[in-house]
Parts: sequence; C-alpha cells; structure tokens
Amino acid sequence: MTILEALNWATDYLRDCGIDHPRLNAELLLARSIHLSREELYIRLHDQVMEEEIKTLEGLSRRRGSGEPLQYILGHQEFWSIDLKVDPRVLIPRPDTERLVEESLSILAKISSKKIPSVLELGTGSGAIAISLAKEVKNIFLVATDLSGDALMVAKENAKQAGVSDKIGFVKGDLLSPFHQGETFDLILSNPPYISDSEISDLSREVRDHEPLIALNGGKDGLEFYRKLISQAPYYLEKEGWFLLEVGSNQASSVSEMIETEGGFEKPERAKDLSGIERVVKAQRKWKVDSRKWRVEKK
Ligand SMILES: C[S@@+](CC[C@H](N)C(=O)[O-])C[C@H]1O[C@@H](n2cnc3c(N)ncnc32)[C@H](O)[C@@H]1O
Repeated sequence: MTILEALNWATDYLRDCGIDHPRLNAELLLARSIHLSREELYIRLHDQVMEEEIKTLEGLSRRRGSGEPLQYILGHQEFWSIDLKVDPRVLIPRPDTERLVEESLSILAKISSKKIPSVLELGTGSGAIAISLAKEVKNIFLVATDLSGDALMVAKENAKQAGVSDKIGFVKGDLLSPFHQGETFDLILSNPPYISDSEISDLSREVRDHEPLIALNGGKDGLEFYRKLISQAPYYLEKEGWFLLEVGSNQASSVSEMIETEGGFEKPERAKDLSGIERVVKAQRKWKVDSRKWRVEKK
C-alpha cells in the first residue's frame, strides 16, 4: 500500500465512523504511524508503507473512530503557542481559555510595574493557564492547584517541559481549602468545571466518554463551583486584587449577579471570546471585606 492509498483508506474509515474533518485526522494519524510530518506525506505520496506501519495506522484509526479525541491519541495540544502533553488525566485545553490568559496578562501588566505579582490558579488541569502566564511574565509568583493528583502530575511535567517549573508551586486540594487566612494573592483565576448534570449526557462522545468528569461537572445547574469560589475568594485576595473566572456560554450574567450579591467585589466586568460569547467575568476586590464572615465560612 502507498502513502496515498493508506491516506485514502484512513479518511474513508474515519468518515464512515462519523468523525469531523476525516482527511485532517487521517493525515495526522498516518504521519504519526510512519514517523513523518504532515507535509512530508505529500512529498512521498507514492512511497510504500510497511506492513507494521499499516497495523499501527489501523489501530490509531480504530481508536479515533470510536471517539477518542485526537489530542489524547497524539498526546499533545497546543495552547498559547506552547506544546502541552495531554492524556485522559486532564481536560484538553480549549482555545477559548486563551481569553482568560489575555485578560489576566492585562491585569498583571499593571500590577507588575509596582511589585512581583502573586497569582493563584484553581483547577489547573494540564497547567495550560499557569504555564502561559509563567512564560509571559518575567517576574511572577504562581501557585496552581487541582483536586486531582493525576492532573497535577501532568501539569508538573508540562511546566518542566516549558522551562517554568521554578515559577510555579503545585498544590493538591479542594478549591481554596489548602490556604490559610493571611495568604493572599494579587490575582485568583479559574476555569472551573461548569457543565450541569443534565448537560453532561448531551456532550459529544469525544468529551463525555473520554475527558475526566471531574474537569467537566459543575453540579446540578453547572454553577456549583462559581458559588463556592465567589464566597471564598475575597478573603484570599490582596486589597484591590483581581478575581477572574472563565464561564460557559449563557453563564456570564448569573455569575456576575452572584459576584454582585456576594458583596466582596466591585462591579464585575465581562469579556467576550472570538465567537462573541461572554467568556470571562472579572471583578476587583473591595477594599474592605468582613473578616468575621471569613471565620464563619472557614468553620
Ligand atoms: C475545566 S477544567 C480546567 C483545566 C485547565 N485549567 C484548563 O483550563 O484547561 C477544571 C479543573 O478543575 C479541577 N477540579 C475539579 N474540582 C476541583 C476542586 N474541588 N478543587 C480544585 N480543582 C478541582 C479538575 O480536576 C480540572 O483539572
């Protein structure tokens, strides 16, 4: 079989399995199977493919055809121009989340003119957000947490690969519970799980059957994590510190309302992603937060 024939076979197979962009998927899987780049495939269309390589292609195509995400099969995903390792222990970072990085960077630019900013990312997954910030900001103190020890292992590997291990401390724990009163940050940010219980079954099989549920499920109405974070965050923020949240489509107004109702923040602002969807809600901490309330919440 030639490269061209193998490419056509894999494309037809993936199309029959209902995979979007079957040709692109086939190219990437074939390139992986025969250790060439996608571009090289087209220079060598009439070269023969070895039997072993055909078997590898068949195996990878079967995995993809059954709905396994291409990123898990290939083992990596680009985010903020950084090549990140991904596997089923972590959510595949989405391009929309780069909006949260952009908004954070504009806030950090202002803070870093006065001091070395301290940043806390809750639910780091692959480490995509924290690593992007560490790459962009020369002097920064970052802590990245996750409840999943498996995810943290991936995030640590990615930080090492990106050369920013020395800038990020990784902490395992439930939201803000690993931190004590007095441990405050200039910026707290999170892309928390925000899919509601009822929407989980409507997700594509790629997401539903392969990505970690702990990274997706935001409880009954999808807003469970926002409720907890919004009530806790003011007590871990510096005066004038910033709180940034990625939100799902149609969640921005509910999350903004929660922030206004909580009372520990100035009026929240919203930022849209490239598709025009309100994707980030950000709010600055009020000068004074009621520390008696903090004590009640920590009990
Ligand atoms: C939507 S994913 C975001 C991952 C990554 N930050 C990104 O944007 O690609 C949410 C992350 O929160 C973590 N998580 C879930 N529950 C948590 C909790 N109670 N405390 C801390 N992290 C949690 C999940 O393991 C997952 O890595």
